[in-house]
Amino acid sequence: MMISKKLNTMLNEQVGHELAASHQYVAIATYFEQAALPTLAKHYYAQALEERDHAMRLVKLVLDSDGVLKIPAVPAPKMGFKNSLEAVQLALASESKVTAQINALQNQAIADKDHLSRNALEWFVNEQREEMSSAGTLVAMVKRAGEGGMFFVEAFLKEGGLADNGNGDAGAE
Ligand SMILES: [Fe+2]
Ligand SMILES: [Fe+2]
Repeated sequence: MMISKKLNTMLNEQVGHELAASHQYVAIATYFEQAALPTLAKHYYAQALEERDHAMRLVKLVLDSDGVLKIPAVPAPKMGFKNSLEAVQLALASESKVTAQINALQNQAIADKDHLSRNALEWFVNEQREEMSSAGTLVAMVKRAGEGGMFFVEAFLKEGGLADNGNGDAGAE
């Protein structure tokens, strides 16, 4: 095994966290779909796929490191929201939580002096910067627009506003 038992356990847990994030984004996407905000729905369905990809990257990392893969139970996502702001705020809160989890993984790799894992985890560190940035932008925009102005947020997303921030939202990652 090329990784410590501790890091192996944390990576398995992170597979579950990424799958949970994926389910949470599906729940957020369906909220927007039912609220007749299709571009936001599309954005969050795409986010859900990205989170699944993150889980698969971690699965591959465990296997490539000759670790023991154990996919944990995934908790149910929160379904239904009071308004658009609550939904985008949950997305930001969930990304903040994942950022802390990725930092903890990276701290463990560094404590283990495991540079193979540290290097592989850099990708996730960079990804979180992009995710936090785009989730934060959406919260600020929804606050400014208000529920009655959500069409403006739709228009911004439709013209690739977030992708222009270089956040990989266009599906590159
Ligand atoms: Fe993720
Ligand atoms: Fe994410």
